[in-house]
Amino acid sequence: MGGAKVAIQTMVALKQVSVVYGEQHALRRVNLQVELGEFVFLVGATGAGKSTLFKLLYGALRPTEGEVWVLGQPLHQLKPRELPFLRRRMGIVPQHYPLLSHKTVWENIAYGLRAIGYNERAVRERVAKVLALVGLNLQARQMPHQLSGGEAQRAAIARAIANNPPLLIADEPTANLDPDTSWEIIDLLMHINRRGATVIVSTHNRTIVDRACQRVVAIDRGKIISDVPRGGYPIELDRLHATVLL
Ligand SMILES: Nc1ncnc2c1ncn2[C@@H]1O[C@H](COP(=O)(O)OP(=O)(O)OP(=O)(O)O)[C@@H](O)[C@H]1O
Ligand SMILES: [Mg+2]
Repeated sequence: MGGAKVAIQTMVALKQVSVVYGEQHALRRVNLQVELGEFVFLVGATGAGKSTLFKLLYGALRPTEGEVWVLGQPLHQLKPRELPFLRRRMGIVPQHYPLLSHKTVWENIAYGLRAIGYNERAVRERVAKVLALVGLNLQARQMPHQLSGGEAQRAAIARAIANNPPLLIADEPTANLDPDTSWEIIDLLMHINRRGATVIVSTHNRTIVDRACQRVVAIDRGKIISDVPRGGYPIELDRLHATVLL
């Protein structure tokens, strides 16, 4: 890895991917391709397989079957020691515990940069830039428990984009946020997308999906059931949610 930079067009490719946890099929023969510059919503009911798909993309999980290509690399056969190099080029906002609770917002962003070799001056510059980008200059010295839900998500996004990754993955970044704050977070992610990053974001939030008018990939019980280039929240899923609620 390293060496000459080749422009990659296909950011993510899943080919016939299945994931089985014990007896349970979390993903079934999933095919998905995401190209450079796209903004993609991954939608589906709870337990549909969204986080499982994301875990495959950042190498926290290996497929039981099939191929997972990310930024041109075959993740399904990458050696564990090669993974950190690939992760440097991906921003990840995980669904649970996206921030280290004992570090300030500033430190949460800085420590990852130090770990990949930024010197202190470069760390200070980058942290200031991303805090400004997400609108958190005033919260830099606060601890995660002193942030509102929306601020915490902004901090997690700032941390994920600190190294200016070409690919950003955010797992339910609007969970537990009010409608206005949810939209602000999605607006921020679309802004990051317009600056050049390819963004994949999972959500249950029909209102923001409809409003954003971006590509929507819907997943139900481990299968992709629809994929529309500029869609809204699929009606099929409403029907499925309704069935679950009855
Ligand atoms: N580590 C695991 N061991 C066993 N089963 C798991 C594991 N992780 C997930 N599952 C199962 O796989 C299925 C998909 O889970 P996943 O977390 O991917 O769903 P999700 O779409 O992210 O749901 P949510 O919207 O609630 O976050 C679920 O049925 C879940 O119970
Ligand atoms: Mg999930």
